[in-house]
Amino acid sequence: MSAEIKVWDPIVRIFHWSLVGSFAIAWVTADEWDDLHEWAGYAAAALVLFRLVWGLIGPRHARFSEFVKPPRTVIAYLKNVVAGRERRYLGHNPAGGAMIVALLCLLLGTSFTGWLATTDAFWGNEWIEELHETLANGLLLLVGLHVAGVLLASIRHHENLVRAMITGRKRATASSDTT
Ligand code: HEM
Ligand code: HEM
Repeated sequence: MSAEIKVWDPIVRIFHWSLVGSFAIAWVTADEWDDLHEWAGYAAAALVLFRLVWGLIGPRHARFSEFVKPPRTVIAYLKNVVAGRERRYLGHNPAGGAMIVALLCLLLGTSFTGWLATTDAFWGNEWIEELHETLANGLLLLVGLHVAGVLLASIRHHENLVRAMITGRKRATASSDTT
């Protein structure tokens, strides 16, 4: 068995699975159970705000400076994926990094518009409700792509990335990998 090293710190892992939980609860309670829906949405927003701080002060693989890349790097990486020759990354790959930024932004936007819909100023405002629902649908679409990307990368590089997000450990790098 090849050696494993720690990649995801406990905060990142707890953040991730708590976010999955609050997103799922917000989604299934939408229009069914308002109190729980709003609390789950606030929990998701709080987790994201916390993650933004952790992305600045957390350990190496948790930092935005480590995995948020310019668009040209993301596009070059995606071209390599299509050609079937993308490198393995120990941390988030460039496409994963772009997806993380998009997910965090959309989560904040969805929660913010949801909160707006509950304020006196926007109560019953159809435009805000529509926007909230559209952002939530966009989020669901991105989550689908996110999970598809995780599965694709897992298959391509013969490793279980979902398990890695639970244990925090991944196969140590080979010379062809990007650390
Ligand atoms: C059951 C469904 C999900 C699975 C299996 C899953 C799996 C994963 C995995 C394996 C990673 C690490 C990717 C890598 O190795 O680079 C990851 C990262 C991430 N996922 Fe998910 N994910 C799921 C749902 C979600 C949902 C619903 C959201 C948000 C709405 C989300 C947001 C994120 C974020 C923000 C990261 C970055 C983690 C960090 O660095 O803090 N995921 N996910
Ligand atoms: C992850 C965060 C969230 C997601 C994914 C989400 C998702 C949704 C969806 C899909 C709907 C449409 C339900 C329907 O009409 O069929 C909805 C409605 C609503 N959400 Fe959220 N939501 C989130 C956060 C929040 C937050 C933080 C609040 C308020 C504190 C909130 C308040 C509302 C309200 C008041 C409605 C009803 C609007 C209407 O009548 O159409 N949501 N949400």
